[in-house]
Amino acid sequence: MSVTRFFVLFVGLVFLTALSVCLYLLGWVLYIHWKYRHIPSPKIMGNFFMGHITELTEFEKKGRHLSMLFLKWKKEYGTVFVIFTMNRAIVVCLEPSIVKELLVNSRSTKPAALYGKFHTVFGQRFVGNGLFSELNNDHWEKKRKMLNPPFKRKYLMDLMYQYNNSTEELISYLKLKADGKTEVHMAHEFNKVALDIIAKVAFGLDNLNVIHDDDAPFCQAVAQSMKGLMHYIRTPFWKVDFRKESQAAMEKSRKAMIFMRNIAEKCILNRIEDIKEGRNYPEDILTHIIKYSRSKDGMMGMEEMIDECFTFFIAGQETTAQLMSYTFEMIGRHPEIYKKLQEEVDCIIGEKPVISYDDISKLEYMTLVFKEVLRYTPPAAGIQRQNVEDIIINGYKIPARSNIALSHYSLSRDERFWDKPEEFNPERFREDNTSFDKEF
Ligand SMILES: *[C@@H]1O[C@H](CO)[C@@H](O)[C@H](O)[C@H]1NC(C)=O
Ligand SMILES: *[C@@H]1O[C@H](CO)[C@@H](O)[C@H](O)[C@H]1NC(C)=O
Ligand SMILES: *[C@@H]1O[C@H](CO)[C@@H](O)[C@H](O)[C@H]1NC(C)=O
Repeated sequence: MSVTRFFVLFVGLVFLTALSVCLYLLGWVLYIHWKYRHIPSPKIMGNFFMGHITELTEFEKKGRHLSMLFLKWKKEYGTVFVIFTMNRAIVVCLEPSIVKELLVNSRSTKPAALYGKFHTVFGQRFVGNGLFSELNNDHWEKKRKMLNPPFKRKYLMDLMYQYNNSTEELISYLKLKADGKTEVHMAHEFNKVALDIIAKVAFGLDNLNVIHDDDAPFCQAVAQSMKGLMHYIRTPFWKVDFRKESQAAMEKSRKAMIFMRNIAEKCILNRIEDIKEGRNYPEDILTHIIKYSRSKDGMMGMEEMIDECFTFFIAGQETTAQLMSYTFEMIGRHPEIYKKLQEEVDCIIGEKPVISYDDISKLEYMTLVFKEVLRYTPPAAGIQRQNVEDIIINGYKIPARSNIALSHYSLSRDERFWDKPEEFNPERFREDNTSFDKEF
């Protein structure tokens, strides 16, 4: 065979392969649009093949969260609508009944296309099969039970001194900055404190010194890992992205993840040693993870134990720090609420050098404020699940194994359940306030 004929044949084959891949993808996209044709769907502005990706990215570019877009679409299309992201259909359900159906009544699973992304990021194991990304329901349930004891009231009460210690550290750090000129980024400070506390109470790591060290490698590694994850979720074709800066960014994220996993491994090995040698050790999350790994149900190896630890570093830090930051923002915007809060704290805590566990339950107004912050700006805006069987919601049949998006944010801003939902008002959570449906 001559070289020319070989070349023609080769190009022909490549062309045919590419064509069939395109046809297959097009067929798939057409099929999913057809499958969900009975459910309302926002009009697609960009190209049909990409679905709503253009709308989603344009909206995010304006610095707004996707949940806000769901609220906008809810006004136009109702509480059940479907959006398309290329080859995926996501049914957005903004009804409380479906939350109960999917999370309590019937079986549902986590969509692997989303939660699987947390397993490995840019080729480096991230949180693997940890509690958050565990896709197997049976395994998830057992792991969830393993974590009950370290969340018991008594256990947390015994740890009050650790919270006290970290808060004292923060105050002493802030005192150094309080010259009336220096700007302090409180979200960053709360990240450090939350990380410091979770490291102490869950893993017995009390020498990280993250609060006083602005460049603590531990903090930076957590932040970089999260950044890497977001980058990864948005870059489906990362394997063929050979640009130098992309390669460098990916490498940076991988290094941060390895750094975190190494810390977790060291913690685990030290604790195993303590247990073996019969030294004193706390019954904290780390101890429970290790004990579970040796139980009949557990059978977790080192990598799986590291997955659980890493999941906790990330999950415990982000959510707590966000709640604290938003609380500061909201009371900053509402001086009258700030004043009331201050009065309550002055009255109940006053000049006491130590805050006890009982004092906390007496801070009633503060509890109302936290509840309202959780409603107004929930740290986790939504989740996704797949239904195991067909379900009918608002008269629409949702076929089995659909990706269903649930949004805490949207439900918390729904005028059907809340009086003036756009208003930040802790009073709505008072026991005797009937302005919202407590059943909901
Ligand atoms: C709380 O921290 C302060 C400052 O470190 C310390 O003096 C006090 O004894 C601590 N209290 C408790 C209950 O640990
Ligand atoms: C908090 O605990 C650490 C480690 O035990 C200790 O070095 C530090 O002095 C404590 N901080 C305060 C403010 O008591
Ligand atoms: C009840 O909550 C609403 C907001 O939903 C608020 O406007 C009202 O003042 C509250 N009433 C009382 C008695 O706290």
